Amino acid sequence: MAQKVKLLATAAMGLESVVAQELKNLGYQDLQVENGKVLFEAETSAIARCNLWLRTADRLKVVVGEFKATTFDELFEQTKALDWERYIPEDGRFPVNGKSVKSTLYSVSDCQAIVKKSVAEKLKQKHGIASRMEETGAMYKIEVALLKDKATLTIDSSGSGLHKRGYRTGQGDAPLKETLAAALVQLTNWKPDYPLVDLFCGSGTILIEAALIGQNIAPGFNREFASESWELVSDKEWNAAFEEAESLANYDQPLDITGTDLNPKMIEIAKQNAIEAGLADLITWKQMESSDFKPSKPNGYLISNPPYGERMSDRESVEKMYRQLGETMRDHPSWSSYIITSHEGFEKLFGAKATKKRKLFNGFIKVDYYQYFGKHIR
Ligand SMILES: C[S@@+](CC[C@H](N)C(=O)[O-])C[C@H]1O[C@@H](n2cnc3c(N)ncnc32)[C@H](O)[C@@H]1O
Repeated sequence: MAQKVKLLATAAMGLESVVAQELKNLGYQDLQVENGKVLFEAETSAIARCNLWLRTADRLKVVVGEFKATTFDELFEQTKALDWERYIPEDGRFPVNGKSVKSTLYSVSDCQAIVKKSVAEKLKQKHGIASRMEETGAMYKIEVALLKDKATLTIDSSGSGLHKRGYRTGQGDAPLKETLAAALVQLTNWKPDYPLVDLFCGSGTILIEAALIGQNIAPGFNREFASESWELVSDKEWNAAFEEAESLANYDQPLDITGTDLNPKMIEIAKQNAIEAGLADLITWKQMESSDFKPSKPNGYLISNPPYGERMSDRESVEKMYRQLGETMRDHPSWSSYIITSHEGFEKLFGAKATKKRKLFNGFIKVDYYQYFGKHIR
């Protein structure tokens, strides 16, 4: 019989509902959406499927247990009471990370050491090991996360963060994280048969993510995951997940995607990244100043992460660029524009109030995602 596990998909602030929607689309239900995470129960095959398919989550973790702890004794005993042997085999490596927010047990290094000792004792007892554990096998990165005295103990199933798709060979000064870029695309009404442009494409992240979405290619197809070497998820389950991803990819879906940037070096990098992602001929790249953009077809989508003008020296030129962009887009009312920026005067400079606005974080920078819906021409 298939085994159930409790899973936790971590999400950047503001993207929790986007991650939840992805999980729903993958067929998972009864999702518990909290700050920075989405929790759900599923069969172990979900570990393979979610790692492969989630575009906007940072990591997928297995929840081993949750409990209240205000003393080191409580932390030790309750950690030991959990069924670690179900997840970690005799030779498993299990380094422990930690974090503590608004909790009595605030010394993270002490919490880590206690959890390490407690898990080791339990595993030795259950696996019948008398000596020190060798820890030469697969990786089971444990995290003890304390929030308001509640401890959540998890094992990371992803390995590198899920934003590491394996296609980024180069980047510029301010690249978007792949997970955020995918969210920006998913928050639009773009469909693969509409034109899509990024006038500030940099290393091409938004458009590469859009092409993967457009052809329904699993974002994790080109990389490995820590849980591929776990006993908890069988080879059969991993193979089935990879086969499902292969069968659902729609490589014949035509796309009309164009990336432009002022900097020719960025265009070279974007091209190389697209080749690495297996999308070589699917995206048109061109060196161009944004003010030279003239849409030639109707019903297009502009999705961009332009410079924010945070340095005073750049402010004037950035503001001029936002004004020009607003003028161009006003001349093409069938086009939709989606712009992420931290510049609080964006709407005024662009010359129109956004249809919708969403607060997000680009790393640690507070940004708004300004969404202008075009009037499609039939
Ligand atoms: C914040 S970066 C975009 C990063 C990109 N989203 C990525 O993931 O790599 C902004 C880009 O705008 C480009 N840029 C700046 N001014 C421009 C202009 N007037 N016209 C076109 N591109 C411009 C820069 O060369 C830079 O690559």
